[in-house]
Amino acid sequence: MKRVLDLGCGFGFMTEFIAKRVAHDAEMTGVDVFPANEKPYLDAVRSAGRRGRFICAALEQSLDWPDRFFDLVVASYSLYYFRRLLPEIARVLAPSGLFFASAHSTRSCLDMLDSLGLSPAATDLTLLALGFSAENAGDQLREHFEQTVRIDYHNTLLFDGSPEGEADWLAFVRFKLPLLVPACQQESDAAADAVIEKARALLAREGTIILDKSDAGFRCSGARCR
Ligand SMILES: C[S@@+](CC[C@H](N)C(=O)[O-])C[C@H]1O[C@@H](n2cnc3c(N)ncnc32)[C@H](O)[C@@H]1O
Repeated sequence: MKRVLDLGCGFGFMTEFIAKRVAHDAEMTGVDVFPANEKPYLDAVRSAGRRGRFICAALEQSLDWPDRFFDLVVASYSLYYFRRLLPEIARVLAPSGLFFASAHSTRSCLDMLDSLGLSPAATDLTLLALGFSAENAGDQLREHFEQTVRIDYHNTLLFDGSPEGEADWLAFVRFKLPLLVPACQQESDAAADAVIEKARALLAREGTIILDKSDAGFRCSGARCR
């Protein structure tokens, strides 16, 4: 595999994992809307000993590469932001190319909201979870790929009431805040503070919090190009 594209690459966690398993002269391209991800992404590529480039762009429904250009395209926990790109992903994949997408389960998202007493109707998390989830991704992907193999990752998160458990729990909730509280940009938002306080009180009351965190990955081949 020589040409790899990571859509919504973030800090490059997935690229780093893949980079160690592809040709030494492979070029890793990461695209993300968030400019601050450039440095961590390129650091991740370098640490795997590969060449890479970062493109800062908001993906919507088209890609700027020629047909059949990439050997591997990945969208790790990101395709729900730009699902309309699926026909283009199929177009830029080589005939023997692979597409890998991962998605959270709807259950895991609802579990999180439920534990914090938040209404599913009011959060971006629900929109994302319902739009492209472990449960419905297969049907969407089969429209664009001849073969789609689902790989389940069953997982549970457990936060206990120790100081470390509380720190991990609050860090996890803070990381999810932009999805839990729409339009929340800063930790100082009143709505965001309220969610953090709710989370703190919940752990103090329950002693332990256990969340379903099951995900699924989808390995797709045989791109259907229209
Ligand atoms: C949940 S993170 C996943 C990051 C990375 N793929 C990983 O697995 O660690 C989703 C990423 O998608 C990016 N993103 C969201 N909407 C985007 C868009 N329209 N175009 C490009 N990147 C986008 C975000 O900035 C974020 O880095």
